[in-house]
Amino acid sequence: MNKSVIKTLLAAALLTLSIPVAYAQFDRPERAIKYRQSVMTIMANHFGRIQPVIKGAAPYDKDAVKANVSVIAMMAPLPWAAFTSGSEKGSNAMPDVWSDAAGFKAAQQKFQESVAGLSVAADSGDLEKVKVASAAVADACKACHEKFQVKR
Ligand code: HEC
Repeated sequence: MNKSVIKTLLAAALLTLSIPVAYAQFDRPERAIKYRQSVMTIMANHFGRIQPVIKGAAPYDKDAVKANVSVIAMMAPLPWAAFTSGSEKGSNAMPDVWSDAAGFKAAQQKFQESVAGLSVAADSGDLEKVKVASAAVADACKACHEKFQVKR
């Protein structure tokens, strides 16, 4: 077997392995909760880092904004699979996450679209576009939290 065939087989083997491993991470509710809250925390942290630029309190550094936005874009698809059934207790997720699954899904989609828009804006290097796109992301975070996160 040549090297590239071996590589392909190895990659395929890893892929089939990684699927049950990924699910195993959510087999206990507390793990699923920790995972989704951690992803939210990272998103909030990196979204927070670009806010001084948006508000004009820090100079616009295109690459720094892009780096933060790419972390958000990487995180954006991750929390949702961790809202496993039976993992409401001990978290700040509202029961509506499960009873209004379609609404929760729609809020995720709206959010992911807004993040895609922010990525395009960050790549453009146009601060005005970044401001508009960032506001859309903030709205999408807020819209979902209003419906689906327990108020503290
Ligand atoms: C589609 C819904 C949805 C979107 C979009 C969303 N969140 Fe959340 N977020 C939640 C829910 C539900 C929780 C509660 C999770 C839990 O306690 O298990 C949460 C929790 C959090 C937390 C608390 C984490 C912790 O440690 O308890 C932070 C911070 C947060 N979100 C920030 C954000 C930011 C910033 C964005 C946008 C960039 C965002 N979220 C987008 C639904 C969403």
